[in-house]
Amino acid sequence: MITFDAIPREKLPTLLRTAPKAELHIHIEGSLEPELIFKLAQRNGVALAYPSVEALRAAYAFTDLQSFLDIYYAGASVLLKEEDFFDMAWAYFQRAAADNVVHAELFFDPQTHTARGVDIGTVIRGLHHACQRAHAELGISASLILCFLRHLSEDEAIATLNAALPYRHHFIGVGLDSSERGHPPEKFSHVFQQARALGLHVVAHAGEEGPPAYIESALDVLKVERIDHGVRCTESPALVQRLAASRMPLTVCPLSNVKLCVFKHLSQHNLPALLEAGLCAMVNSDDPAYFGGYLNDNLLQTFEALPALGPREAYALLRNSFEASFAPAERKAGWMAKLDRAFEAAAAG
Ligand code: HPA
Ligand code: ZN
Repeated sequence: MITFDAIPREKLPTLLRTAPKAELHIHIEGSLEPELIFKLAQRNGVALAYPSVEALRAAYAFTDLQSFLDIYYAGASVLLKEEDFFDMAWAYFQRAAADNVVHAELFFDPQTHTARGVDIGTVIRGLHHACQRAHAELGISASLILCFLRHLSEDEAIATLNAALPYRHHFIGVGLDSSERGHPPEKFSHVFQQARALGLHVVAHAGEEGPPAYIESALDVLKVERIDHGVRCTESPALVQRLAASRMPLTVCPLSNVKLCVFKHLSQHNLPALLEAGLCAMVNSDDPAYFGGYLNDNLLQTFEALPALGPREAYALLRNSFEASFAPAERKAGWMAKLDRAFEAAAAG
């Protein structure tokens, strides 16, 4: 039993920073910092539309999801070789280790790269090597989730899945990202059915900008195991009840939601309401290089802005990150035991 009331609020930032945690919603292309974009552009002879790192960073003022995606895809244009994908993911893992991320499930967007003539094997091999090194050198268990771009057709998603099959053992699941509005989950019913038949895990972005109906069709048609974002579920009390009853995880990304104007300010975020309703929500960074912070930045800023979040909610979020992961049950239990010890120590003074 953890005595949450015995943990003073002043202890929360250190506890959040040092406690073990899992990251389940990070687009690895969204971890590409401007400095690395410029380094790779030079290495590969790719011309950029921005004259400097500062000019590029200054362009990170978004009004909605699409305004971000336009810059995000431009940034990814410097990725050409296996070592580029390795360098990008390795840089992320080093930052994740500093945040005590012990398990990470990384989204990647193969179509962003194959459209530029990059072989899908180049993408997957580079990312996979970084995952292996993260495990060996940083003790982070890491897996890959292949995302389909929902603004493209289902046929293109099917072709992408088929092209990735020689690397089937290098990724654990499929997801759905990019422009949500006008591209409902059911557009991808066949490719998700195929992925499930292959034994892949299935997740989808839904209810970030799209309506609660998109969350429902992700559940009913795609049969997803997690909803990415999902924050608009609170517009439908029946849906919130359903999500709570089934412990359906929501991979919430607070800084992303503010940068993309889903919420005006962190203090208006509905994370406290999601937890209050009993949902299996946790905090993630989404695209940390673009949204102003990695996982601990998201946690610390969110707790700073929302007084309703205290030690009990901190524990729930971190525990949910392990519960919702696709790691084996015995690894989850080990991480949860470590998490318990961190909170018990804080409560003991
Ligand atoms: N939403 C949809 N697609 C994305 C995102 C996001 O937050 N980040 C990268 N691709
Ligand atoms: Zn995302």
